[in-house]
Amino acid sequence: LALATSVVASGLTALSAYAEGGEQTVNWTREQASKIELNQDNTLPYTDISKLEKLAPGYHMWDTWALTDRDGNVASIKGWKVIFALTAPSDVLPGKVHDIATIRYFYSKNGKDWTLGGELFPSGSALGSRQWAGSAMMDNGKIHAFYTATGHKGEERLTYEQRLAMATGDIVADNSGVRFENWGDHRIILEPDGKHYQTKEQAQQGEGGGYAFRDPMWFKDPQTKKEYLLFEGNSGGSAADRKLKPEYVGSPEFAGQQNVPPGAVHANGNIGIAEVEGGDFSKIKMLPPLVEANYVNEELERPHIVVKDKKYYLFTDSHINKYADGLTGPDGLYGFVSDKLIGGYKPLNGSGLVLANPADNPYQAYSWLVLPNLNVVGFAHFGDLGNMSIGDVGNQTPEFQFSHFGGTLAPTVKLSIKDDRTKLEQEYEPGWIKQ
Ligand code: FRU
Repeated sequence: LALATSVVASGLTALSAYAEGGEQTVNWTREQASKIELNQDNTLPYTDISKLEKLAPGYHMWDTWALTDRDGNVASIKGWKVIFALTAPSDVLPGKVHDIATIRYFYSKNGKDWTLGGELFPSGSALGSRQWAGSAMMDNGKIHAFYTATGHKGEERLTYEQRLAMATGDIVADNSGVRFENWGDHRIILEPDGKHYQTKEQAQQGEGGGYAFRDPMWFKDPQTKKEYLLFEGNSGGSAADRKLKPEYVGSPEFAGQQNVPPGAVHANGNIGIAEVEGGDFSKIKMLPPLVEANYVNEELERPHIVVKDKKYYLFTDSHINKYADGLTGPDGLYGFVSDKLIGGYKPLNGSGLVLANPADNPYQAYSWLVLPNLNVVGFAHFGDLGNMSIGDVGNQTPEFQFSHFGGTLAPTVKLSIKDDRTKLEQEYEPGWIKQ
C-alpha cells in the first residue's frame, strides 16, 4: 500500500515502482489494454439470441451465480444444485430491468433443467430499493447470501447508492426441491471509504465517470484459509484529484510515446477486496484494491477468483463503452494472474482479455462468471444491434427491445488455462452448470 499511494511524487520514482511491480494494488495499464485483440482463443461463437429458450418463462434473468460451499466449490444439497439470478418480470422493458432487479433462485439435479424456486428473500425484506449481484455460500445447513443493496428501501425516486449487504437463512432441501427459510436480519456489511473506494458523493463531484460499489463475491484462500469478499469499486477521490500517473500508462518506453486524452480521467474502475476476519461477518476489514484501471476502464464488474496450480486467477467483466478515451476493448471477460492473493497481478494473455463477444454481435452476452472447473456462465444480452450503441437501446420501441434482449442464460463455455494464457475450448448448452 505504501508504494501504491506514494509512488508518484516524481515521475522517476513512479517508473521504478512500475518496473518492480508487486505492490498491493496493481495497475491495469493503457499499454496492456492497448494489446487487446479478438482472436480464435478468446472470441465466443455467434449465438442467435432470438432462438434461445427462456430458462425462466415470465422473467428476464441476467447476472447469475451458483450456491457454493465455503471453499467456493459448486454446492450440492441432497443432489440439488442451486443458482441465483437477477430477475425482472419479462414485460418490463429490458432497458429498465436494473431499476427493479430482484434475486430469484433456481434448482436442478442435472445442472441444466432449472426449476424456478421463487424469490430468494421474502418479498420486501432485502435492503435497498432493488438488489444487484452478489454471491451465496452454504455452511452447516445455512445459506450466507451476499448482495448489493442499491438505492434505499421505500424511496420514491430511484437513487443509486450501492452498499454490500448480507443475510443468513436455513436451507431446506427434500425430494421436491430446495427452499430457504428463517432469514435473520439483513445487514449492510461494507460501504466505500472514500480513500481506496470512491463514494457516491465523490463520483458526483467530477463530470461523468462511473460509480460502483457492488457485487460482493465470497472467496476463501485455499493456502491461508483466510476468507474475503471481492467487489467492484472505483478508485477513491473525485476526478479532479485523479492526476495522470506514468504507471497508469505503462512502461517508460510506451508512456513516452503516448498522448493520453484528458477525458480518460473519468475511468477509475477497481477490484476491491475485504477480509472477513476469523470468518466473522461482523468483522469485515476493507483492504486496498487488488487492481485499478485508472485512465483505462471505468467498470470492473463482478470480480471473482479461481485458484489453479497454486496461482490466483482474478476475473472481471467489462463493457465496450467503459474504456477510457483513446482505448477500445470488447464486452468481455477479463483476467489477471498472480502467485499470491494480494499483489503481483499480471493481465492474462498480455492484454487481460479472456473472452469476447464476436465482432459481428458485440452485445451478445455479458456478466460471465468462471466456475472452479473453468466452465463459464453468462447471460444472453442484446443480440444484433447493428450499428446502434447499447446506450440507445432504451430509446427504441418496446418491440425492438423485447426482440433483442436475451434475458436468459447464454451457452456455457469451457476455458483452459496454462500459466498466463487462456483458450476458449468448447461451447455447451445454455445455463449448464456442468460438473
Ligand atoms: C453486471 C451488473 C452488475 C450489477 C448488475 C445490475 O451486469 O452491472 O455489476 O450488480 O449488473 O443489474
